[in-house]
Amino acid sequence: MSCTILVGGQWGDEGKGKIISSLALKDSPSAIARAGVGPNAGHTIYHNEKKFGLREIPCGFVQEKARLYIGAGVLVDPDVFMKEIDETGARGRIFIDGRCTVITPEHKERDTHPDLKGKIGTTGTGCGPANSDRALRCAKLARDVPELSEFIVDVPLEINGFLDRKENVLIEGSQGSLLSLYYGHVYPFVTSKDTHASAFATDVGVGPMRIDDVLVVFKSFPSRVGNGPFPTRMTKEREEEFGIHEYGTVTGRERDMGEFDFKLAKYSCMLNSATQIALTCLDYVDKSVLGVSEYDKLSDKAKEFVEKIESELNVPVTLISTGPESGHLIDLREEKL
Ligand code: GTP
Ligand code: IMP
Ligand code: MG
Repeated sequence: MSCTILVGGQWGDEGKGKIISSLALKDSPSAIARAGVGPNAGHTIYHNEKKFGLREIPCGFVQEKARLYIGAGVLVDPDVFMKEIDETGARGRIFIDGRCTVITPEHKERDTHPDLKGKIGTTGTGCGPANSDRALRCAKLARDVPELSEFIVDVPLEINGFLDRKENVLIEGSQGSLLSLYYGHVYPFVTSKDTHASAFATDVGVGPMRIDDVLVVFKSFPSRVGNGPFPTRMTKEREEEFGIHEYGTVTGRERDMGEFDFKLAKYSCMLNSATQIALTCLDYVDKSVLGVSEYDKLSDKAKEFVEKIESELNVPVTLISTGPESGHLIDLREEKL
């Protein structure tokens, strides 16, 4: 039995969606619960030769045997949710907590304000305004929306039930540590909530003593969208040298790319009590390792990078992603844990 929380260790977009979908297929957890802020996130996955950019529904939907949940701490935009139900075919096994805050068109309108979209570079998805209404206790909840009634359950009761029965639960965080409202060094250029493992446990109603593993996802070359400082930002010429360019899943904005920041990554491991690291985009370090699924087949350059991460952060790198597809994965958990 285990309860694992998956967390982004940098500025979001580390490839959490890819890791979650791979683990959902490999480990077959009974329940997968989405935590994090809300539909400002975009998790990209490739499944059955189709690309998905999911904002509400857990990427673990790829595991057809799993029940899927959205915890009370997560903002729900009913339009996005219903669209993703159709895209994923998850109706009948996806449930949301009646206490989720609902994002309204008015929240999205307020999120276009120059102080938010202009200054902070928010995603414009209404998340900040919805969280502020929740704090003011005037927000509408999922239980107040007839369209959502068939999906409503008590998520903590269900998830803790799985843990009582000694079944596996995967908690899917969104965003990244450095975007935390409280601990992000670059405040006010952060999101509207905390984005650490403890917050994600709260989001889905699981107490800290029930968490067995905190898997922090780091991208070999981190990316950043929105405004504000990015200490290790690369020049566009250097991005060109590596041939790496990314565009936001939600907003389509070009992401800035940067060098791995060991100091911030170490801090992030501390704030999350990291027990394992998943390292993504190792193929950005050396193109020759694209799609490799055995550690011994990695180039020396790629291995050196992995070893440096492990020794500097002092946390085992148990999963290595070498490409965007779910099979592009090296799983070292058996030998390292
Ligand atoms: P947020 O919850 O919004 O923070 O997103 P996320 O962490 O799920 O990441 P997102 O899908 O937004 O961005 C990661 C990008 O990297 C996507 O385009 C993925 O398809 C891609 N990706 C993930 N892993 C790998 C990898 O190992 N190599 C390469 N080349 N691309 C990858
Ligand atoms: P908001 O969360 O939409 O209010 O945006 C605040 C900041 O967080 C902006 O810099 C966004 O680009 C960033 N942000 C929010 N969610 C994500 C995410 O999932 N990935 C990357 N950046 C994000
Ligand atoms: Mg994303």
